[in-house]
Order: sequence, then C-alpha cells, then structure tokens
Amino acid sequence: MRLAFVTSNPGKVEEAKKYLEPLGIEVYQLRFEYPEIQADTLEEVAEYGVMWLAERIKEPFFLDDSGLFVDALRGFPGVYSAYVYRTLGYQGILKLLEGETNRRAHFKSVIACWVGELHLFTGTVEGEITTEPRGRFGFGFDPVFKPHGFDKTFAEMTTEEKNRISHRGRALEAFAQWLRENL
Ligand code: IMP
Repeated sequence: MRLAFVTSNPGKVEEAKKYLEPLGIEVYQLRFEYPEIQADTLEEVAEYGVMWLAERIKEPFFLDDSGLFVDALRGFPGVYSAYVYRTLGYQGILKLLEGETNRRAHFKSVIACWVGELHLFTGTVEGEITTEPRGRFGFGFDPVFKPHGFDKTFAEMTTEEKNRISHRGRALEAFAQWLRENL
C-alpha cells in the first residue's frame, strides 16, 4: 500500500517512514497547500484540512497538525504555534515566560488519515519550557522544550531519541497500531 503524507516538511516524512515502512507501507511526500482554519483545537484544524483535501486527492493520504501548549499562557500558542514560531520564534515564548515559575507545557500532535473515511490519532508529551535555549538539533520550539524525566531539551537529542518520546512519535505509533489491525 502507498500512503501520501501531505506536508511541506521532509523531516516529518522521514519520521513517519520509520513507523510505517516496517508494516510494508510506502510513505511518500505530497506537497499540497490546504487551508488551515482558525479553530480552538488541533483536531478541528486537521479534520477540516482532510475533508478539503479528500475532494482533491484521489489516493489515501494523511497529514499532521501539531502545537505547543504552555500552561502559564493558558495553552498559548497551541493552534497558533506555526504562526507564533514564524513571527516571535521561541525567543518570544521565553520572553512571555520571563519571571514565571510555572513552566509546564506539552506538545500535541494530531494525525488525520483519509482512507475513504476519516481517522484521527493523537499523541502528547509533557515537559517544561527552559529559561534559555539549548541544543542545535530538531526544529521549531525544540531548543526550549525539555520533556519530563530527561535532562536534555528536544534540540539536544538525536532524532531517534526524540521520536521515542515525542508527541508525533506517539501519534505515529497509534496510527501504525491501527494500520496493523485494520489493513
Ligand atoms: P505544524 O504541525 O507543522 O503546523 O506545526 C506547528 C508548529 O508547532 C511548528 O511550526 C513548530 O513551531 C511547532 N512544533 C510542532 N512540532 C514540533 C516539534 O516536534 N518540535 C518543535 N516544535 C514543533
């Protein structure tokens, strides 16, 4: 079976391959711009994107929508993470949290798959926002996110280390499990 991953991020495709190729699924990147609506949850954003794409793409596909949710900011940037990263960067988050002692945050990822019907898979990872950036791997908010139980930020971990515990890794794991049971 071939499954298109609708994304502009080749790094995400590499991650997905690690989970899905062992099942005999060929994952390939499909660059296809789709509308990301303003909504309260990642699930709504992902679902709208999939339904819009389902009218335009004939083969089975999936996409991923993720975000960083900071407790002291009542979940901000959340569904606005991509925009906030583009405009303020992780430095903006550090600035907003200056002097704040509650640094808890989580990443969440929603994978939405279209195989003639819609299926959603989610994954989260709890952690905290550091007071300064550390590490040079990864992307986005990785340098300022330290998962619980680890001394390193995501940006100080190898891709394999990060995948094992990350929100996207967990969502991909749930997706792979479903594929194993339903293919
Ligand atoms: P999207 O799912 O590509 O729209 O991701 C939204 C934004 O969340 C990205 O631009 C990143 O800034 C941030 N983000 C999502 N996943 C990660 C991650 O694994 N590490 C760091 N930042 C992430």
